[in-house]
Amino acid sequence: MSTDNKISRRDALKRMSAAVISGAVASSGLLSLTSCEEKRNKRIILYFTGTGNCLYVARQLGGENGELLSIPQMVKRGKYDFEADEIGIVYPIYGHMPPNMVREFIKKARLKAGYKFAVLTYGARKCDAVEIWDRISQNAGNKFDYINTLIMVDNWLPNFDMNEQIKMDKHIPENLQKITTDINGQRRWHEPVTEEERQQHQGFMQRSGLDPEVVFLMKSDKCFTVTDACIDCGICTYVCPRSNYELTSRGVKMSGDCEFCFACIQNCPQKAIQFRKSEDGSFPDGTEKNPNARYRNEHVSLMDLKLANNQKL
Ligand SMILES: Cc1cc2nc3c(=O)[nH]c(=O)nc-3n(C[C@H](O)[C@H](O)[C@H](O)COP(=O)(O)O)c2cc1C
Ligand code: SF4
Ligand code: SF4
Repeated sequence: MSTDNKISRRDALKRMSAAVISGAVASSGLLSLTSCEEKRNKRIILYFTGTGNCLYVARQLGGENGELLSIPQMVKRGKYDFEADEIGIVYPIYGHMPPNMVREFIKKARLKAGYKFAVLTYGARKCDAVEIWDRISQNAGNKFDYINTLIMVDNWLPNFDMNEQIKMDKHIPENLQKITTDINGQRRWHEPVTEEERQQHQGFMQRSGLDPEVVFLMKSDKCFTVTDACIDCGICTYVCPRSNYELTSRGVKMSGDCEFCFACIQNCPQKAIQFRKSEDGSFPDGTEKNPNARYRNEHVSLMDLKLANNQKL
């Protein structure tokens, strides 16, 4: 045997371990996954959620490789610059408009992407939500190629009983599948709006007296009250995207501007958070359909919601 063909014991071990590792990588499919991933578009999804519907939708649209970013967390970190092949936004409509935090976010955001899409979730009546988002986002210099709506459980406690809403079949999987197909094919399309829907929104604005620039932003202590049923569990302090709750030696304290997202009232295990009745009867007046029924999206855990909204991170 010539010395050229001889390998040292150390080299032999090195070669053996390299062969074992490459075999393992190949059999786990990691190699093929890596090469597929390289070809796949980078997709970022920015979302806002109160009761989990939008987080669920964001996850479904993100698939295995999408990057999900919570808008309250981005706002907290002052992060407004994003770059990817595709950037999406998912939010719940409030009075057919975006939540205040989403509106303020998009005004400051610089979204660099070849394809931008928005999915707006709602529960009963979307009116001209698509056009409203188109206007707001274009004015902010962020034109969206695709804007669509998705009907889900309506978490608006004043008008809806959550137990009844949960039982209704709103064809969410089928509708979400259509949206996913559209987005994966980079469809450029805005869901059409009718004149009747525009009029309905105008009527709502007149009746509600809401300021269209501020919408549902209210003072939390004017909206809610905490009863003696509170057990100081602290959940409200974690799920609020504005950090309006604080646990003190004298119980829960609440203050600050409120998005009216209902993360607190819907997730309190004691149903100890209740609407405060408005003194002058102004909208919303503090009544609710079923104070014993509460909702969080079935695919979203309390921990998911805490991670999405927690301002203490
Ligand atoms: C303050 C507020 C206002 C709402 N306004 C509307 C509305 O105008 N039309 C509608 O169909 N649903 C409305 N909804 C229902 C939500 O848009 C819907 O349930 C959404 O999917 C909730 O998403 P989330 O679970 O991610 O918070 C409203 C909910 C809240 C809390
Ligand atoms: S979530 Fe409810 S029970 Fe828990 S601290 Fe807040 S108000 Fe009290
Ligand atoms: S106080 Fe409640 S409704 Fe208001 S922003 Fe916080 S979690 Fe949402």
